[in-house]
Amino acid sequence: MSSEPVNVNDFKELARLALPKMYYDFYSGGAEDEHTLRENIQAFYRITIRPRVLVDVSKVDMSTTILGHHISAPILVAPTAAHKLAFHEGELATARAAAAVKTIMVLSYSSTCSIEEVASSCNSVRFFQLYIFKRRDISALLVQRAERCGYKAIILTVDTPRLGRREADIKNKMIAPPVKSLEGLISIDVKSDQGSKLETYANEMLDASLSWEDIGWLRSITTLPILIKGVLTHEDATKAVEAGVDGIIVSNHGARQLDFAPATVSVLEEVVHAVKGKIPVLLDGGVRRGTDVFKALALGAQAVLIGRPVIYGLAAKGEEGVRTVMEMLKNELETSMALSGCPSIKDITRSHVRTHYDNLP
Ligand code: FNR
Repeated sequence: MSSEPVNVNDFKELARLALPKMYYDFYSGGAEDEHTLRENIQAFYRITIRPRVLVDVSKVDMSTTILGHHISAPILVAPTAAHKLAFHEGELATARAAAAVKTIMVLSYSSTCSIEEVASSCNSVRFFQLYIFKRRDISALLVQRAERCGYKAIILTVDTPRLGRREADIKNKMIAPPVKSLEGLISIDVKSDQGSKLETYANEMLDASLSWEDIGWLRSITTLPILIKGVLTHEDATKAVEAGVDGIIVSNHGARQLDFAPATVSVLEEVVHAVKGKIPVLLDGGVRRGTDVFKALALGAQAVLIGRPVIYGLAAKGEEGVRTVMEMLKNELETSMALSGCPSIKDITRSHVRTHYDNLP
């Protein structure tokens, strides 16, 4: 690309140029036909904004609070695996960038820097993403370490009883780097020549028998708030509230699990209505513009999380790239709010957007 990136989509191209094909495919790809991958983005296109004029927007305040933590804008860093494949400092660079823009990073279980290393890299609020493994003792140990290191919430990913079919990874015979936090705890001999090594590894580890009752087990081993990530229906949203979780992330894992799962923004309201304001609802998947953040908030999300754009920023320009990506989204959100007549986050309401299912005069 000849000019400097002006939006987060430009960073995707920079990342493509910077990364070996196998890694770019790993980061950018989705499951099977990638229908959901495209839909996550296109569903945002189908929502329009209903701006109000003659509102004093001389000051726009994007700051908000998530689980009691004050952040500069409702845009968090989603948990994504293996940042060292994108940039040599890996998650340490991402964590510093998130701290610099005063937001929360969710550290992936599959990170290439350990829970402890990321905690000591900066002083910001961090959450930890967890899977529940066949070996419960390992999940429990990770939770204890996250607690000890001052992570402020556990994000339990529930859409991965096994790994989705990511065909680019299968073709490339992609091998994930070791999970740093598991060093010395477990070793899995990946022998299979079927599928990607990633798939074999995940399927060895993950507990496919996990069910709603197991949320109680997690609750019993930690005092941290628990958010479940991967809810896409009102039925599961209701169950999540009944199970006593502290929040929901509407997510289809960036379209890497079940192809033809719905675009996240298309089911956000369904989940929000089921939850009835009892716990916060966040969303990730396909957020590429400040207007996307605005639309998600108008439909009831408390905040959004960003996955791939963060990695693209990291691959293109390291820590500075992640910071720039987050700042671009913040700047775009600020402009969207000003041009829609919303001087603060609480001013963004359902009536500021129009979806295809709305019946307006
Ligand atoms: C992910 N995601 C993910 N989620 C999770 O709970 N644990 C993980 O380790 C990972 N790893 C991961 C790796 C890569 C390369 C991607 C792209 C995604 C899913 C992630 O948290 C989030 O749900 C999506 O990335 C959001 O969609 P966008 O922003 O990438 O469109």
